[in-house]
Amino acid sequence: MSLKFQYSGFCDRIIMDKIVILDFGGQYCHLISRRIRDFGVRAEVMPFNTSAKSLLADKSIKGIILSGGARSVYEKDTPRFDKEIFNLSIPVLGICYGHQLIAHLMHGKVVSGKSGEYGLMKLNIKNGGEILAHLGKSKNVWMNHRDVVVQLPKSFVSVASTEHSKIAAFANKKLKIFGVQFHPEVSHTENGDRILRKFVIDICKCKKLWISTIVAQNLIKETRDVIGNEKAIIGLSGGVDSSVATALVGKAIGKKLVAVYVDTGLMRDGETKFIESAFRKKKLNLKIIRAEKQFFHALKEVSSPEQKRKIIGKLFADIFYAIAKKELATFLIQGTIYSDRIESGLTKHSSKIKSHHNVGGLPKNLQMKLYEPLKDLYKDEVRKIASELGLPKKITTRQVFPGPGLAVRIIGEITPERVKIVRQAGKIIEEELRKTELWKDIWMSFAVLLPIKSVGIQGDKRSYKYPVVVRIVESRDAMTANFSKIPFSILEKISTRITNEIHKVNRVVYDITNKPPATMEWE
Ligand code: XMP
Repeated sequence: MSLKFQYSGFCDRIIMDKIVILDFGGQYCHLISRRIRDFGVRAEVMPFNTSAKSLLADKSIKGIILSGGARSVYEKDTPRFDKEIFNLSIPVLGICYGHQLIAHLMHGKVVSGKSGEYGLMKLNIKNGGEILAHLGKSKNVWMNHRDVVVQLPKSFVSVASTEHSKIAAFANKKLKIFGVQFHPEVSHTENGDRILRKFVIDICKCKKLWISTIVAQNLIKETRDVIGNEKAIIGLSGGVDSSVATALVGKAIGKKLVAVYVDTGLMRDGETKFIESAFRKKKLNLKIIRAEKQFFHALKEVSSPEQKRKIIGKLFADIFYAIAKKELATFLIQGTIYSDRIESGLTKHSSKIKSHHNVGGLPKNLQMKLYEPLKDLYKDEVRKIASELGLPKKITTRQVFPGPGLAVRIIGEITPERVKIVRQAGKIIEEELRKTELWKDIWMSFAVLLPIKSVGIQGDKRSYKYPVVVRIVESRDAMTANFSKIPFSILEKISTRITNEIHKVNRVVYDITNKPPATMEWE
Protein backbone atom coordinates (compact mmCIF):
# COMPACT_ATOMS: atom_id res chain seq x y z
CA MET A 1 0.00 0.00 0.00
CA SER A 2 2.74 2.44 0.91
CA LEU A 3 4.20 2.40 -2.62
CA LYS A 4 1.19 4.27 -3.92
CA PHE A 5 1.79 7.25 -1.67
CA GLN A 6 4.01 10.22 -2.09
CA TYR A 7 6.45 10.67 0.76
CA SER A 8 7.73 13.90 2.22
CA GLY A 9 11.30 15.17 2.24
CA PHE A 10 13.74 13.95 4.86
CA CYS A 11 11.59 11.23 6.34
CA ASP A 12 9.08 8.82 4.95
CA ARG A 13 5.90 10.44 6.20
CA ILE A 14 2.95 10.10 3.88
CA ILE A 15 1.95 13.49 2.50
CA MET A 16 -1.77 13.98 2.92
CA ASP A 17 -3.85 16.27 0.76
CA LYS A 18 -5.20 19.00 2.96
CA ILE A 19 -8.10 21.44 3.13
CA VAL A 20 -7.43 24.66 4.99
CA ILE A 21 -10.28 26.40 6.77
CA LEU A 22 -9.64 30.09 7.38
CA ASP A 23 -11.24 30.98 10.68
CA PHE A 24 -13.35 34.15 10.68
CA GLY A 25 -14.61 33.42 14.16
CA GLY A 26 -17.81 31.57 13.33
CA GLN A 27 -19.13 29.16 15.93
CA TYR A 28 -19.17 26.24 13.46
CA CYS A 29 -15.62 26.68 12.18
CA HIS A 30 -14.24 23.53 13.80
CA LEU A 31 -17.30 21.60 12.77
CA ILE A 32 -16.21 22.09 9.15
CA SER A 33 -12.85 20.45 9.78
CA ARG A 34 -14.52 17.70 11.85
CA ARG A 35 -16.87 16.84 8.99
CA ILE A 36 -14.08 16.77 6.43
CA ARG A 37 -11.84 14.60 8.59
CA ASP A 38 -14.79 12.29 9.20
CA PHE A 39 -14.85 11.39 5.55
CA GLY A 40 -11.14 10.82 5.48
CA VAL A 41 -9.46 14.04 4.37
CA ARG A 42 -7.03 16.08 6.42
CA ALA A 43 -8.44 19.47 7.38
CA GLU A 44 -6.81 22.21 9.37
CA VAL A 45 -8.16 25.45 10.80
CA MET A 46 -5.86 28.44 10.28
CA PRO A 47 -6.13 32.15 11.14
CA PHE A 48 -8.17 34.17 8.64
CA ASN A 49 -5.19 36.36 7.75
CA THR A 50 -2.82 33.53 6.79
CA SER A 51 -0.86 34.82 3.80
CA ALA A 52 -1.45 33.49 0.29
CA LYS A 53 2.33 33.04 0.01
CA SER A 54 2.49 30.65 2.96
CA LEU A 55 -0.55 28.73 1.71
CA LEU A 56 1.06 28.36 -1.70
CA ALA A 57 4.27 27.10 -0.11
CA ASP A 58 2.42 24.12 1.35
CA LYS A 59 1.92 21.87 -1.64
CA SER A 60 -0.43 19.57 0.25
CA ILE A 61 -3.16 22.25 0.33
CA LYS A 62 -5.78 21.37 -2.25
CA GLY A 63 -8.65 23.61 -1.21
CA ILE A 64 -9.49 26.60 0.97
CA ILE A 65 -12.72 27.13 2.90
CA LEU A 66 -13.64 30.51 4.36
CA SER A 67 -15.65 30.01 7.54
CA GLY A 68 -18.61 31.92 8.88
CA GLY A 69 -18.18 34.87 11.22
CA ALA A 70 -20.24 37.31 13.22
CA ARG A 71 -19.34 40.60 11.50
CA SER A 72 -20.70 42.46 8.45
CA VAL A 73 -18.30 42.59 5.51
CA TYR A 74 -19.20 46.20 4.65
CA GLU A 75 -18.19 47.51 8.11
CA LYS A 76 -14.77 49.00 8.79
CA ASP A 77 -12.00 46.78 10.23
CA THR A 78 -13.78 43.50 9.69
CA PRO A 79 -11.62 40.38 9.23
CA ARG A 80 -10.43 39.96 5.62
CA PHE A 81 -8.26 37.38 3.97
CA ASP A 82 -5.32 37.90 1.62
CA LYS A 83 -6.97 38.57 -1.76
CA GLU A 84 -4.03 36.92 -3.51
CA ILE A 85 -5.68 33.66 -2.49
CA PHE A 86 -7.96 34.06 -5.50
CA ASN A 87 -4.89 33.81 -7.78
CA LEU A 88 -3.45 30.58 -6.34
CA SER A 89 -5.44 28.26 -8.64
CA ILE A 90 -6.67 26.51 -5.48
CA PRO A 91 -10.46 26.04 -5.24
CA VAL A 92 -12.19 28.28 -2.67
CA LEU A 93 -15.51 27.76 -0.90
CA GLY A 94 -17.00 30.55 1.22
CA ILE A 95 -19.55 29.68 3.89
CA CYS A 96 -21.91 32.35 5.31
CA TYR A 97 -19.56 35.27 6.16
CA GLY A 98 -17.02 33.65 3.81
CA HIS A 99 -19.64 33.65 1.03
CA GLN A 100 -20.38 37.33 1.64
CA LEU A 101 -16.69 38.19 1.81
CA ILE A 102 -15.97 36.64 -1.59
CA ALA A 103 -18.81 38.69 -3.10
CA HIS A 104 -17.64 41.87 -1.38
CA LEU A 105 -13.95 41.55 -2.28
CA MET A 106 -14.71 40.65 -5.89
CA HIS A 107 -16.88 43.75 -6.36
CA GLY A 108 -20.31 42.26 -5.84
CA LYS A 109 -22.63 43.80 -3.24
CA VAL A 110 -23.61 42.76 0.28
CA VAL A 111 -26.29 44.58 2.32
CA SER A 112 -28.21 44.02 5.51
CA GLY A 113 -31.30 41.95 4.63
CA LYS A 114 -34.87 43.09 5.32
CA SER A 115 -35.29 40.00 7.41
CA GLY A 116 -32.79 37.61 8.97
CA GLU A 117 -32.78 33.88 8.26
CA TYR A 118 -32.09 31.86 11.37
CA GLY A 119 -32.71 28.13 11.42
CA LEU A 120 -33.99 25.75 8.81
CA MET A 121 -34.84 27.36 5.41
CA LYS A 122 -35.91 25.95 2.09
CA LEU A 123 -33.19 26.26 -0.54
CA ASN A 124 -34.30 26.32 -4.17
CA ILE A 125 -31.56 25.00 -6.38
CA LYS A 126 -31.32 26.30 -9.94
CA ASN A 127 -28.56 24.75 -12.01
CA GLY A 128 -26.44 23.80 -9.02
CA GLY A 129 -23.20 25.19 -10.53
CA GLU A 130 -21.16 22.04 -9.80
CA ILE A 131 -21.14 22.56 -6.03
CA LEU A 132 -24.90 21.83 -5.66
CA ALA A 133 -25.45 20.08 -9.00
CA HIS A 134 -26.23 16.68 -7.51
CA LEU A 135 -28.87 17.69 -5.00
CA GLY A 136 -32.17 17.92 -6.90
CA LYS A 137 -34.54 20.92 -6.84
CA SER A 138 -34.74 21.84 -3.17
CA LYS A 139 -33.24 21.07 0.20
CA ASN A 140 -33.67 22.28 3.77
CA VAL A 141 -30.57 24.13 4.90
CA TRP A 142 -29.36 25.68 8.16
CA MET A 143 -29.10 29.47 7.98
CA ASN A 144 -27.76 31.95 10.50
CA HIS A 145 -27.49 35.41 8.92
CA ARG A 146 -29.02 38.80 8.24
CA ASP A 147 -26.63 40.19 5.60
CA VAL A 148 -27.27 39.07 2.03
CA VAL A 149 -25.41 39.10 -1.26
CA VAL A 150 -27.58 41.21 -3.61
CA GLN A 151 -25.18 41.60 -6.53
CA LEU A 152 -22.83 38.98 -7.90
CA PRO A 153 -19.21 39.60 -8.84
CA LYS A 154 -18.57 39.60 -12.60
CA SER A 155 -18.74 36.17 -14.27
CA PHE A 156 -20.29 34.49 -11.20
CA VAL A 157 -23.70 32.82 -11.40
CA SER A 158 -26.31 32.43 -8.71
CA VAL A 159 -27.04 28.73 -8.26
CA ALA A 160 -29.61 28.71 -5.45
CA SER A 161 -31.99 31.00 -3.58
CA THR A 162 -34.24 31.11 -0.51
CA GLU A 163 -37.22 33.30 0.27
CA HIS A 164 -35.04 36.12 1.60
CA SER A 165 -31.73 35.49 -0.22
CA LYS A 166 -31.88 35.65 -3.99
CA ILE A 167 -28.23 34.66 -4.09
CA ALA A 168 -28.03 31.93 -1.44
CA ALA A 169 -25.23 30.18 -3.34
CA PHE A 170 -22.99 31.19 -6.23
CA ALA A 171 -20.33 29.66 -8.42
CA ASN A 172 -17.58 30.52 -10.81
CA LYS A 173 -16.74 27.14 -12.27
CA LYS A 174 -13.80 28.42 -14.27
CA LEU A 175 -12.05 29.99 -11.27
CA LYS A 176 -13.36 27.23 -8.98
CA ILE A 177 -14.68 29.75 -6.48
CA PHE A 178 -17.96 28.97 -4.74
CA GLY A 179 -20.08 30.45 -2.00
CA VAL A 180 -22.98 29.17 0.10
CA GLN A 181 -24.93 31.39 2.46
CA PHE A 182 -26.05 28.38 4.53
CA HIS A 183 -24.02 25.99 6.69
CA PRO A 184 -23.37 22.61 5.04
CA GLU A 185 -21.33 21.55 8.10
CA VAL A 186 -24.35 21.68 10.43
CA SER A 187 -26.16 18.35 10.65
CA HIS A 188 -29.59 19.98 10.13
CA THR A 189 -28.63 20.86 6.54
CA GLU A 190 -29.98 18.11 4.31
CA ASN A 191 -27.11 16.52 2.37
CA GLY A 192 -24.66 19.03 3.87
CA ASP A 193 -22.10 16.28 3.97
CA ARG A 194 -22.53 15.64 0.24
CA ILE A 195 -21.90 19.32 -0.50
CA LEU A 196 -18.65 19.27 1.47
CA ARG A 197 -17.63 16.01 -0.21
CA LYS A 198 -18.40 17.49 -3.61
CA PHE A 199 -16.04 20.37 -2.88
CA VAL A 200 -13.30 18.37 -1.18
CA ILE A 201 -13.24 15.17 -3.22
CA ASP A 202 -14.61 16.11 -6.66
CA ILE A 203 -13.55 19.73 -7.02
CA CYS A 204 -10.34 19.83 -4.94
CA LYS A 205 -9.50 16.19 -5.82
CA CYS A 206 -8.29 15.31 -2.33
CA LYS A 207 -7.30 11.73 -1.68
CA LYS A 208 -8.78 10.14 1.43
CA LEU A 209 -5.73 9.43 3.54
CA TRP A 210 -6.86 10.74 6.92
CA ILE A 211 -7.32 7.34 8.49
CA SER A 212 -6.07 6.44 11.93
CA THR A 213 -3.53 3.84 10.74
CA ILE A 214 -1.80 6.40 8.53
CA VAL A 215 -2.21 9.24 11.04
CA ALA A 216 -0.54 7.08 13.71
CA GLN A 217 2.27 6.00 11.36
CA ASN A 218 2.91 9.60 10.37
CA LEU A 219 3.00 10.74 13.99
CA ILE A 220 5.47 8.02 14.92
CA LYS A 221 7.71 9.06 12.06
CA GLU A 222 7.33 12.74 12.90
CA THR A 223 8.26 12.01 16.52
CA ARG A 224 11.46 10.26 15.41
CA ASP A 225 12.37 13.23 13.24
CA VAL A 226 11.69 15.76 15.97
CA ILE A 227 13.40 14.00 18.87
CA GLY A 228 16.22 12.34 16.97
CA ASN A 229 18.75 10.84 19.37
CA GLU A 230 17.76 12.95 22.35
CA LYS A 231 15.83 11.84 25.44
CA ALA A 232 12.23 12.76 26.27
CA ILE A 233 10.09 12.67 29.39
CA ILE A 234 6.33 12.56 29.87
CA GLY A 235 4.06 12.71 32.90
CA LEU A 236 1.79 9.70 32.54
CA SER A 237 -1.43 10.40 34.43
CA GLY A 238 -3.44 7.46 33.13
CA GLY A 239 -5.90 9.70 31.27
CA VAL A 240 -6.58 9.04 27.58
CA ASP A 241 -4.40 11.84 26.22
CA SER A 242 -1.24 11.27 28.24
CA SER A 243 -1.60 7.49 27.73
CA VAL A 244 -1.84 7.85 23.96
CA ALA A 245 1.05 10.33 23.84
CA THR A 246 3.14 7.92 25.94
CA ALA A 247 2.35 4.89 23.77
CA LEU A 248 2.97 6.84 20.58
CA VAL A 249 6.27 8.42 21.57
CA GLY A 250 7.34 5.12 23.13
CA LYS A 251 6.71 3.38 19.84
CA ALA A 252 8.81 6.02 18.09
CA ILE A 253 11.84 6.29 20.38
CA GLY A 254 11.55 3.29 22.74
CA LYS A 255 13.66 3.45 25.91
CA LYS A 256 14.67 7.03 25.19
CA LEU A 257 11.24 7.97 26.51
CA VAL A 258 10.98 8.21 30.28
CA ALA A 259 7.32 7.95 31.32
CA VAL A 260 6.76 9.09 34.89
CA TYR A 261 3.69 7.96 36.76
CA VAL A 262 3.47 9.41 40.26
CA ASP A 263 1.28 7.50 42.70
CA THR A 264 0.21 10.35 44.97
CA GLY A 265 -1.87 8.04 47.13
CA LEU A 266 -4.86 9.95 45.82
CA MET A 267 -5.52 7.81 42.76
CA ARG A 268 -8.56 5.75 41.76
CA ASP A 269 -8.90 2.16 42.94
CA GLY A 270 -6.38 -0.16 41.23
CA GLU A 271 -4.94 2.70 39.16
CA THR A 272 -1.25 2.07 39.73
CA LYS A 273 -1.57 -1.65 38.96
CA PHE A 274 -3.58 -0.84 35.87
CA ILE A 275 -0.98 1.60 34.57
CA GLU A 276 1.76 -0.91 35.24
CA SER A 277 -0.03 -3.63 33.32
CA ALA A 278 -0.92 -1.36 30.41
CA PHE A 279 2.59 0.05 29.97
CA ARG A 280 5.06 -2.34 31.55
CA LYS A 281 5.38 -4.43 28.40
CA LYS A 282 5.74 -1.43 26.13
CA LYS A 283 9.23 -0.57 24.98
CA LEU A 284 9.76 2.56 27.05
CA ASN A 285 11.36 3.55 30.32
CA LEU A 286 8.40 3.45 32.75
CA LYS A 287 9.03 4.93 36.17
CA ILE A 288 6.39 4.35 38.80
CA ILE A 289 7.08 6.68 41.71
CA ARG A 290 5.34 5.77 44.94
CA ALA A 291 5.07 9.06 46.74
CA GLU A 292 1.98 8.50 48.92
CA LYS A 293 3.84 9.27 52.13
CA GLN A 294 5.24 12.53 50.77
CA PHE A 295 1.81 13.68 49.63
CA PHE A 296 0.00 12.74 52.84
CA HIS A 297 2.73 14.45 54.86
CA ALA A 298 2.52 17.65 52.79
CA LEU A 299 -1.28 17.67 53.04
CA LYS A 300 -1.45 17.08 56.79
CA GLU A 301 -3.96 19.41 58.48
CA VAL A 302 -4.68 21.23 55.22
CA SER A 303 -8.39 21.87 54.58
CA SER A 304 -8.46 24.74 52.12
CA PRO A 305 -9.25 23.50 48.59
CA GLU A 306 -6.89 25.99 46.94
CA GLN A 307 -4.06 25.16 49.29
CA LYS A 308 -4.54 21.43 48.64
CA ARG A 309 -4.36 21.98 44.90
CA LYS A 310 -1.25 24.14 45.15
CA ILE A 311 0.57 21.71 47.44
CA ILE A 312 -0.20 18.76 45.18
CA GLY A 313 0.74 20.63 42.00
CA LYS A 314 4.04 21.82 43.44
CA LEU A 315 5.05 18.45 44.89
CA PHE A 316 4.17 16.72 41.66
CA ALA A 317 6.23 19.19 39.63
CA ASP A 318 9.21 18.87 42.02
CA ILE A 319 9.23 15.07 41.69
CA PHE A 320 8.76 15.18 37.94
CA TYR A 321 11.44 17.75 37.16
CA ALA A 322 13.97 16.11 39.48
CA ILE A 323 13.63 12.96 37.37
CA ALA A 324 13.82 14.93 34.13
CA LYS A 325 17.09 16.48 35.32
CA LYS A 326 18.55 13.18 36.44
CA GLU A 327 17.61 11.45 33.21
CA LEU A 328 19.05 14.31 31.11
CA ALA A 329 15.79 14.55 29.17
CA THR A 330 15.83 17.41 26.68
CA PHE A 331 12.26 17.05 25.43
CA LEU A 332 9.09 17.38 27.46
CA ILE A 333 6.17 15.53 25.88
CA GLN A 334 2.65 16.67 26.58
CA GLY A 335 -0.67 15.10 25.63
CA THR A 336 -2.25 18.42 24.61
CA ILE A 337 -5.01 17.85 22.06
CA TYR A 338 -6.73 20.13 19.56
CA SER A 339 -9.62 21.06 21.85
CA ASP A 340 -7.23 22.05 24.66
CA ARG A 341 -5.78 24.63 22.31
CA ILE A 342 -9.12 25.79 20.93
CA GLU A 343 -10.59 26.07 24.38
CA SER A 344 -7.61 27.69 26.00
CA GLY A 345 -9.84 30.72 26.51
CA LEU A 346 -12.27 28.54 28.44
CA THR A 347 -9.52 26.93 30.40
CA LYS A 348 -8.33 30.36 31.39
CA HIS A 349 -11.81 31.10 32.65
CA SER A 350 -12.04 27.92 34.67
CA SER A 351 -8.60 28.39 36.17
CA LYS A 352 -9.92 31.54 37.81
CA ILE A 353 -12.38 29.38 39.70
CA LYS A 354 -9.91 26.67 40.69
CA SER A 355 -6.15 26.37 40.35
CA HIS A 356 -6.01 23.48 37.93
CA HIS A 357 -3.19 21.13 38.47
CA ASN A 358 -1.92 19.43 35.35
CA VAL A 359 1.37 17.85 34.49
CA GLY A 360 1.78 20.74 32.09
CA GLY A 361 2.25 23.42 34.73
CA LEU A 362 5.62 24.33 33.26
CA PRO A 363 8.13 26.09 35.50
CA LYS A 364 9.24 29.33 33.86
CA ASN A 365 12.93 28.45 33.73
CA LEU A 366 12.37 25.01 32.23
CA GLN A 367 15.27 24.19 29.94
CA MET A 368 13.41 21.63 27.85
CA LYS A 369 11.93 21.61 24.39
CA LEU A 370 8.19 21.02 24.27
CA TYR A 371 6.69 18.48 21.87
CA GLU A 372 2.94 17.87 21.67
CA PRO A 373 2.33 15.06 19.17
CA LEU A 374 -1.48 15.06 19.54
CA LYS A 375 -1.97 18.80 19.26
CA ASP A 376 -3.87 18.59 15.95
CA LEU A 377 -6.20 15.74 16.89
CA TYR A 378 -9.73 15.87 18.23
CA LYS A 379 -10.66 13.65 21.18
CA ASP A 380 -12.33 10.89 19.18
CA GLU A 381 -9.34 10.77 16.85
CA VAL A 382 -7.08 10.34 19.88
CA ARG A 383 -9.29 7.43 20.96
CA LYS A 384 -8.93 5.81 17.54
CA ILE A 385 -5.16 6.20 17.69
CA ALA A 386 -5.27 4.53 21.12
CA SER A 387 -6.65 1.36 19.61
CA GLU A 388 -4.14 1.57 16.73
CA LEU A 389 -1.42 1.57 19.39
CA GLY A 390 -2.92 -1.42 21.17
CA LEU A 391 -3.92 0.37 24.35
CA PRO A 392 -6.61 -1.40 26.42
CA LYS A 393 -10.22 -0.33 25.85
CA LYS A 394 -10.45 0.63 29.51
CA ILE A 395 -8.17 3.59 28.75
CA THR A 396 -10.33 4.95 25.95
CA THR A 397 -13.63 4.50 27.78
CA ARG A 398 -12.59 5.86 31.15
CA GLN A 399 -13.86 9.04 32.69
CA VAL A 400 -11.70 12.10 33.13
CA PHE A 401 -10.05 12.37 36.52
CA PRO A 402 -8.79 15.58 38.10
CA GLY A 403 -5.06 16.13 38.48
CA PRO A 404 -5.26 16.55 42.29
CA GLY A 405 -7.10 13.22 42.43
CA LEU A 406 -9.26 12.19 45.35
CA ALA A 407 -7.97 15.14 47.39
CA VAL A 408 -10.67 17.36 45.90
CA ARG A 409 -13.33 14.78 46.76
CA ILE A 410 -12.65 14.83 50.48
CA ILE A 411 -13.94 17.94 52.16
CA GLY A 412 -11.62 19.04 54.94
CA GLU A 413 -8.42 17.31 55.93
CA ILE A 414 -7.09 14.40 53.91
CA THR A 415 -6.24 11.27 55.81
CA PRO A 416 -5.45 7.76 54.53
CA GLU A 417 -8.70 6.56 56.12
CA ARG A 418 -10.81 9.16 54.30
CA VAL A 419 -9.08 8.45 51.01
CA LYS A 420 -9.85 4.75 51.42
CA ILE A 421 -13.55 5.50 51.96
CA VAL A 422 -13.92 7.83 49.01
CA ARG A 423 -11.97 5.48 46.74
CA GLN A 424 -14.06 2.45 47.64
CA ALA A 425 -17.34 4.37 47.29
CA GLY A 426 -16.21 5.67 43.89
CA LYS A 427 -15.43 2.14 42.80
CA ILE A 428 -18.91 0.93 43.80
CA ILE A 429 -20.54 3.79 41.88
CA GLU A 430 -18.50 2.98 38.78
CA GLU A 431 -19.20 -0.76 39.00
CA GLU A 432 -22.95 -0.25 39.27
CA LEU A 433 -23.10 2.31 36.45
CA ARG A 434 -20.91 0.31 34.08
CA LYS A 435 -23.53 -2.44 34.24
CA THR A 436 -26.09 -0.08 32.68
CA GLU A 437 -26.61 1.72 29.38
CA LEU A 438 -26.24 5.01 31.27
CA TRP A 439 -22.45 4.70 31.46
CA LYS A 440 -21.81 6.06 27.97
CA ASP A 441 -23.80 9.27 28.62
CA ILE A 442 -22.08 10.08 31.89
CA TRP A 443 -19.22 12.58 32.01
CA MET A 444 -18.20 11.75 35.55
CA SER A 445 -19.44 9.72 38.48
CA PHE A 446 -17.75 9.72 41.84
CA ALA A 447 -18.12 9.89 45.61
CA VAL A 448 -17.43 12.84 47.89
CA LEU A 449 -16.78 12.45 51.59
CA LEU A 450 -18.11 15.07 54.01
CA PRO A 451 -16.15 15.69 57.25
CA ILE A 452 -19.22 15.38 59.46
CA LYS A 453 -21.06 12.53 61.09
CA SER A 454 -24.72 11.70 61.44
CA VAL A 455 -26.79 9.20 63.40
CA GLY A 456 -27.99 5.97 61.87
CA ILE A 457 -29.12 2.51 62.82
CA GLN A 458 -27.27 -0.56 61.69
CA GLY A 459 -27.80 -4.07 63.08
CA ASP A 460 -30.25 -2.69 65.64
CA LYS A 461 -27.50 -0.49 66.99
CA ARG A 462 -27.06 3.26 66.90
CA SER A 463 -24.29 4.34 64.52
CA TYR A 464 -22.54 7.69 64.19
CA LYS A 465 -20.64 7.81 60.90
CA TYR A 466 -19.69 9.74 57.77
CA PRO A 467 -22.11 10.55 54.93
CA VAL A 468 -21.03 10.01 51.33
CA VAL A 469 -22.30 12.17 48.47
CA VAL A 470 -22.88 10.49 45.11
CA ARG A 471 -22.16 12.88 42.23
CA ILE A 472 -23.08 11.84 38.67
CA VAL A 473 -23.07 14.44 35.91
CA GLU A 474 -23.54 14.74 32.17
CA SER A 475 -21.70 17.33 30.14
CA ARG A 476 -20.52 18.02 26.58
CA ASP A 477 -17.56 20.25 27.29
CA ALA A 478 -17.04 20.42 31.07
CA MET A 479 -18.03 24.09 31.09
CA THR A 480 -21.61 23.33 32.04
CA ALA A 481 -23.11 20.13 33.39
CA ASN A 482 -26.41 18.61 34.46
CA PHE A 483 -26.82 16.11 37.25
CA SER A 484 -27.79 12.73 35.79
CA LYS A 485 -31.38 11.64 36.24
CA ILE A 486 -30.40 8.20 37.44
CA PRO A 487 -33.31 5.81 38.15
CA PHE A 488 -33.96 5.44 41.90
CA SER A 489 -33.49 1.68 41.66
CA ILE A 490 -29.85 2.18 40.60
CA LEU A 491 -29.23 4.86 43.23
CA GLU A 492 -30.72 2.51 45.82
CA LYS A 493 -28.34 -0.26 44.75
CA ILE A 494 -25.39 2.12 45.02
CA SER A 495 -26.53 3.41 48.41
CA THR A 496 -27.09 -0.08 49.82
CA ARG A 497 -23.71 -1.30 48.63
CA ILE A 498 -21.87 1.72 50.03
CA THR A 499 -23.42 1.43 53.49
CA ASN A 500 -23.02 -2.37 53.53
CA GLU A 501 -19.48 -2.52 52.23
CA ILE A 502 -17.90 0.57 53.76
CA HIS A 503 -17.90 0.23 57.48
CA LYS A 504 -17.36 3.92 58.21
CA VAL A 505 -20.40 5.18 56.27
CA ASN A 506 -24.05 5.11 57.33
CA ARG A 507 -25.69 7.61 54.96
CA VAL A 508 -25.65 8.29 51.20
CA VAL A 509 -27.02 11.43 49.53
CA TYR A 510 -27.34 12.29 45.83
CA ASP A 511 -26.12 15.66 44.54
CA ILE A 512 -28.86 17.20 42.36
CA THR A 513 -27.06 20.43 41.50
CA ASN A 514 -26.18 21.48 37.96
CA LYS A 515 -23.07 23.41 36.92
CA PRO A 516 -23.51 26.35 37.31
CA PRO A 517 -24.19 27.12 40.14
CA ALA A 518 -22.08 24.22 41.47
CA THR A 519 -18.90 22.89 39.89
CA MET A 520 -18.60 19.18 39.12
CA GLU A 521 -15.96 18.50 41.74
CA TRP A 522 -16.77 19.70 45.25
CA GLU A 523 -13.45 21.53 45.58
P1 XMP B 1 -15.18 21.48 37.72
O1 XMP B 1 -15.12 20.88 39.09
O2 XMP B 1 -14.33 22.72 37.58
O3 XMP B 1 -14.50 20.39 36.76
O4 XMP B 1 -16.58 21.69 37.23
C1 XMP B 1 -14.59 20.36 35.36
C2 XMP B 1 -13.78 19.16 34.87
O5 XMP B 1 -12.39 19.40 35.11
C3 XMP B 1 -11.86 18.38 35.94
N1 XMP B 1 -10.90 19.00 36.86
C4 XMP B 1 -9.57 18.95 36.69
N2 XMP B 1 -8.81 18.35 35.76
N3 XMP B 1 -6.85 19.13 36.82
C5 XMP B 1 -7.45 18.43 35.83
O6 XMP B 1 -6.75 17.86 35.00
C6 XMP B 1 -7.56 19.77 37.79
O7 XMP B 1 -6.99 20.39 38.68
C7 XMP B 1 -8.98 19.66 37.73
N4 XMP B 1 -9.98 20.15 38.50
C8 XMP B 1 -11.16 19.72 37.94
C9 XMP B 1 -13.05 17.80 36.65
O8 XMP B 1 -12.79 16.49 37.09
C10 XMP B 1 -14.13 17.88 35.58
O9 XMP B 1 -14.06 16.82 34.66
